[in-house]
Amino acid sequence: MRRLIPRFLSNRRYCPATLGAQDALYHLNDWPSDDCPTKPNETGFRQGFSPGALPPDESSRFERSRSEGTDYHESVLLDEATHYLAPEPGKLFLDATLGGGGHSEQLLSKGAKVIGLDQDPAALSFARARLSHYDDKFGAIQGNFRDFGEILSTIGISGLDGLLLDLGISSHQVDDADRGFSFNKPGPLDMRMDPDSEVTAAELINNCPEEELARVFYEYGEERASRRIASAIIERRKDKFFECTTDLAGLVQSILPRRGKKHPATRVFQALRIAVNNELRVLEEALTEIPQWLRPGGRLVVISFHSLEDRIVKSYLKRCSKSKIDRPEWPEPRSNPNYCFKLVMQKGLIPSKDEVKSNPRARSARLRVAEKLSIEVQP
Ligand SMILES: C[S@@+](CC[C@H](N)C(=O)[O-])C[C@H]1O[C@@H](n2cnc3c(N)ncnc32)[C@H](O)[C@@H]1O
Repeated sequence: MRRLIPRFLSNRRYCPATLGAQDALYHLNDWPSDDCPTKPNETGFRQGFSPGALPPDESSRFERSRSEGTDYHESVLLDEATHYLAPEPGKLFLDATLGGGGHSEQLLSKGAKVIGLDQDPAALSFARARLSHYDDKFGAIQGNFRDFGEILSTIGISGLDGLLLDLGISSHQVDDADRGFSFNKPGPLDMRMDPDSEVTAAELINNCPEEELARVFYEYGEERASRRIASAIIERRKDKFFECTTDLAGLVQSILPRRGKKHPATRVFQALRIAVNNELRVLEEALTEIPQWLRPGGRLVVISFHSLEDRIVKSYLKRCSKSKIDRPEWPEPRSNPNYCFKLVMQKGLIPSKDEVKSNPRARSARLRVAEKLSIEVQP
């Protein structure tokens, strides 16, 4: 059988662009109350399911699927994402955030072909080993999903039946102290998903001007004490640069004493991670390219983990799912040049209580789905 991706490509490293950490900034809020996600009802099945949803008698299909990969990362909304992507033999999917390969495995098990993309070589190694028995149906490439169009062109792919973005970092990345994502374990202040990208968290902390640090903490972490923390960092770094995660976490804790379960450095660490990996800009750029790669009927599924990400996805899909746009100064509504998606559900889907109980890291997840219409999209 023809290999999905030539062997020489399956181990290649695609050169991701090195990203400036100070690009676009966004406001971090908790979920706004008027945008309440689709909640599970008492039976664990979600209310407000819209076209394309499973009928309640199929809810048993949403029991958690477990396999060896859950030690690396327990996939979130696994069966829901699989359901909406509707994998079957002959279909081709891009899993643009391969991670431990849990979502890819589900798609492959239904007979579909999958190209997996991740900027973290550790994820690629793990997923390649896990999915090696799907050799002729699965290929994995290292790269940033902002470059996915270029990557697909390079390997001769011209269209997809579905694309998955399961955003953020994997449990393995958080749990590996050497990656520097965790404030609970001592490790280098790194936080790069792609270990070859240029800017580390330590470089930001040790070099950014005070105003810039405060802005990052406030806008990417919604940290109210952003100015106080930035000022304390500047004072401390006059004596000694920050190198260790727990060193920074300790400084934040000395300013914001611990109250409740949440570590006081949670928001600062989230903000730094977003800045180091330029996560929001990358997401925006990738989204705008997706329509030209999806075949009519092909689906985009995005799982986001905080409101900054979800807001970008939601507003992008809203913009692309209206056939007409109107402005007060226009005599009548005009055709929307960005119209290319049908929203499969109006509101995002959140994990069931059972999923959150068995995998607390799923608690802030929200899934959105859109289906490509048969309308020409201008590249
Ligand atoms: C939440 S995990 C995905 C887990 C995966 N769906 C599974 O079931 O195991 C997110 C993964 O996406 C990768 N990632 C995040 N942003 C990326 C980007 N811009 N380009 C490529 N990979 C990215 C991370 O390195 C991480 O491995």
